[in-house]
Amino acid sequence: MAECLYHPTHGYYSRPETPTASKEGDFMTSISVGPVFGQLLARRFHKFWTANGSPDSFTIVEIGAHDGALALDILDYLPALDPQFAKATHYVISEPLPQRCLFLQDRLGERATIISKPKDIQAKFGVLVANEVLDALPVPLYLRTQNEWREAAVDHDGKAFQWATLPDPIDLSYDGDFPDGFVTEGDPDLNSFLGPLSEIFEKGLFTFIDYGMDEASLHHPARSAGTLRCYRNHQSNAHPLDFPGEQDLTEDVNFTSVENAARDLGLTQHLVTAQGRFLVHCAKEWLLKSPSPGEVSQFQTLIHPGQFGNRFYFCELTKGDVDYAFPGD
Ligand SMILES: C[S@@+](CC[C@H](N)C(=O)[O-])C[C@H]1O[C@@H](n2cnc3c(N)ncnc32)[C@H](O)[C@@H]1O
Repeated sequence: MAECLYHPTHGYYSRPETPTASKEGDFMTSISVGPVFGQLLARRFHKFWTANGSPDSFTIVEIGAHDGALALDILDYLPALDPQFAKATHYVISEPLPQRCLFLQDRLGERATIISKPKDIQAKFGVLVANEVLDALPVPLYLRTQNEWREAAVDHDGKAFQWATLPDPIDLSYDGDFPDGFVTEGDPDLNSFLGPLSEIFEKGLFTFIDYGMDEASLHHPARSAGTLRCYRNHQSNAHPLDFPGEQDLTEDVNFTSVENAARDLGLTQHLVTAQGRFLVHCAKEWLLKSPSPGEVSQFQTLIHPGQFGNRFYFCELTKGDVDYAFPGD
């Protein structure tokens, strides 16, 4: 999965000129729906900034900014939202793939600082946002066979990739009675991912937006095929060995694991709630400002239970002594 997505030349995310998250690409995200998502996030971050004393310096760190669309939506909106907030804000993007860094630098110019490692930035106060990044972190795949867990592996017979299993059984502590043939994915390396992020701010808000569920639902004996899946031309499939580097690979986020890993790193989790509910809170004042029919239509797509509203979750955490400032209060 790591090679297919992040190989420096052939990885799915290593070719920024190829559209992925768009109508012409392989899948839609809340960002590709239009600028309203970024505008509502800007409002949420503004609320956090004002609740914490409107300091002169505020850093927004975006993880995995992809084509830079969210950054532009937020940055374009800030001056109208609050010129003081726009002046205080410094936008930083952390993106590990060199080709994407160059692409983002070209697209955003002076408007954002692009870094390849989170440790390259330290800020006193700010927010970190990652939309659909946790679901793109590589995960191991486990197979239940003869009452034991084995890790799945990938082999090649000279013609094509094939599934294999590693010989030694492994100990997994999932609760339940799992039948033979049951497949599930494990966690990505959350410590390596979240550890450096947790070091960026002295005080801050962390907003992760993604599809996923809690531990009990994810490893429920009825979910016998796991959640690892692929996207290509807006079709989903369950064949990760096909089209290596040419289709997206993704899994549902285990929010219980995220909370546990974040807590161990000193962060406090405030909520995991459906995107629809969260954005309705963020949008209260925005709705009173007579958005255009096009903007209302974007908002409906983002909150509709059958579209982005119930499938995606906002997971918010804080670091340090801050006012969390829930958007609904
Ligand atoms: C599914 S895309 C989401 C892109 C964008 N945030 C959106 O919602 O349209 C996942 C992105 O996360 C980036 N990514 C993966 N691992 C990362 C990491 N450790 N740090 C920062 N970005 C990462 C990938 O390069 C890719 O651009």
